[in-house]
Amino acid sequence: MPNEQTTANPFESNPDPEEETRQIEEVANLTEELLDMRYSAPRPILRGVHPKSHGCVKAVFEVNADIAENLRVGLFAVPGKKYDARIRFSNASVRVEHDLKDGKNGSRGMAIKVLDVGETVLQEDGGAHNQDFLMINQPAFAFANTEDYLRLTKIIREHNDDPSIFFAPLKVTIPGITDEQKRRILNSFKIVQQIQSMPVANPLEVRYFSAAPFLFGPDRVMKFSATPSLSQEPQTVPENPGENYLSEALEKTMSGTEDIRFDFQVQVRGKEDGLNIEDASTVWDETEVPFVDVARITIRAPQKEITTPNYIERCERLVFTPWHSLAEHQPLGSINRLRRAVYLASDAKRGGGRPGRGASAKRKDHRP
Ligand code: HEM
Repeated sequence: MPNEQTTANPFESNPDPEEETRQIEEVANLTEELLDMRYSAPRPILRGVHPKSHGCVKAVFEVNADIAENLRVGLFAVPGKKYDARIRFSNASVRVEHDLKDGKNGSRGMAIKVLDVGETVLQEDGGAHNQDFLMINQPAFAFANTEDYLRLTKIIREHNDDPSIFFAPLKVTIPGITDEQKRRILNSFKIVQQIQSMPVANPLEVRYFSAAPFLFGPDRVMKFSATPSLSQEPQTVPENPGENYLSEALEKTMSGTEDIRFDFQVQVRGKEDGLNIEDASTVWDETEVPFVDVARITIRAPQKEITTPNYIERCERLVFTPWHSLAEHQPLGSINRLRRAVYLASDAKRGGGRPGRGASAKRKDHRP
């Protein structure tokens, strides 16, 4: 259960907390309604977003032995410290469908669960104290804040999961849409276009980003990223990709003998101007604030067991949320405040991690 270990911090500036609380409740309720719409019994209920998993792998998350002293914070406090971790790769799309639905690339996810991280977590993970890092393969989230995400969620609820009307204000005048909202909608549109123009051949070969900001100790903020360190050129998407070509690519790599490595990196800032904490659709320019390596993720190969029904079932039961976090890495900003309630709603709907409903579904059951 969530506790109230969150710290007041100098970064967040919620303009209307009461209104935001109302909006968060509405998105959480709509999330539950959407799950009822998508999965009627006896179909197991899957995750509200990212329902299609490409697979889970075991990993080791090791803080760099030479991490700079000023970066020894929270999970990164002890140089050389090793943690066991689990990683799930996924498609962000709200439905389980072809990896290239209508021939288009979608957003891809990498969720890392670092196990047994310490005493003070913001939300327990079935009794355990884990640090989850949820990432997508672009540096900006497509929606700025809770207000925009609520508009999107209402639209997909009304239009059977079709989000296209969200962008209608760019073509026609819609009463009540302000110039500022229009600016954000145009930005969302550009981010979606970027996502669609980014082919991914293998989930193990692309870079992932937190997009949203998190605390880095009491007086700094971070965004994080995982960058694959490849020993050869990345693969290209096959000519006629099958509907599950991404899990096939991952399984093939994991049946080989070459370990996979990612560098885990952070962009760290103080309380400068222009942090845009409340807008998850902004990017911190890497040329101004470079990403610095702080840890290394090693995925030992082979891991042939990842395709067995038992393993797939256990993979499905993992529950990720950015609020499985040390207090030092508290999620920040409107989108992250929204995520706290919505991930809980999604998990509760699929059985709260208990066997018997979506959380225990086998992956093969929910492939199209
Ligand atoms: C910076 C923004 C975001 C990032 C990087 C992100 C990333 C991810 C990733 C990687 C997963 C898959 C985790 C897994 O494998 O289980 C996930 C799951 C999910 N996300 Fe997000 N997400 C973001 C924003 C949001 C927002 C704004 C919402 C809705 C309010 C949302 C709702 C969900 C839900 C419901 C799940 C499934 C939770 C479950 O049932 O276990 N996400 N997200």
